[in-house]
Amino acid sequence: MKDIMNAPFITEMRKTTANMYRLGWDERNGGNISYLLEEKEVLTYLDGTNVLRTIPLGFDATMLAGKYFVVTGTGKYFKNVEDAPEMNLGVLRIAKDGQNAELLWGFADGGKFTSEFPAHLMSHMARLSVDPENRVVMHCHPTHTLAMNYVHPLNEKEVTHTLWQMCTECIVVFPDGVGVLPWMLCGTNEIGEATAEKMKEFRLVIWGMHGIYGVGKTMDEAFGLIETVEKAAQVYMLTAHLPRVNIIRDDELQVLAEAFGVKYRKDFLG
Ligand code: 13P
Ligand code: ZN
Repeated sequence: MKDIMNAPFITEMRKTTANMYRLGWDERNGGNISYLLEEKEVLTYLDGTNVLRTIPLGFDATMLAGKYFVVTGTGKYFKNVEDAPEMNLGVLRIAKDGQNAELLWGFADGGKFTSEFPAHLMSHMARLSVDPENRVVMHCHPTHTLAMNYVHPLNEKEVTHTLWQMCTECIVVFPDGVGVLPWMLCGTNEIGEATAEKMKEFRLVIWGMHGIYGVGKTMDEAFGLIETVEKAAQVYMLTAHLPRVNIIRDDELQVLAEAFGVKYRKDFLG
């Protein structure tokens, strides 16, 4: 058995959480990541028959039965993952019954998966139904994205349009736009179901006055989506109170999308 501390997926989780912390997206225990792993890879590091604990999910994840994830723990600080991955991360398998998680490694102090696991697993299910290669669900609290929530109308069309206008490459990076949910109680199956519903259409979903979700085939894709939104939101917040002298017009956004050959939400222009 190889040493899991050398597993590329653990290294990725350590580096990504550290990056996100440094960017100010994950204060205290804010934020969570879940990463769908290949069974073949996991079983070179861990004995799949050695289940340390079985933890109830509280919702049905039958569609993911037998799938392996590495996930951040509830109440755990992103700032601490890099130095103590075994305490702050867990590797688990969704049990055959789809009702439980079987812990194979991690959460060494008796902890468990993030309180947002319903939103994560439901989002994985929704994304896999439209993109069988999706592997990563990422949630965080980026400062400018959050700030924008308080001063800008919170609907998909207006949020997406404004973000597209803030940096030339936005429409190329997220031509599918940004889904938006109103403020809702977090950590519940209800917000999980609402998020998953949006995920059928979007790779980015804003949780009103809370934060954002990004998904992707790789950690880079999910991270890059959130990073691009956050950059655009920062430009918006730096300029929202100033007279607008120049603007990227809708016909220019259209030219951009066409030049890069992306399928964009035409209904979000105009
Ligand atoms: P967890 O500590 O349970 O992951 O919760 C953090 C968070 O961001 C809640 O939305
Ligand atoms: Zn949160």
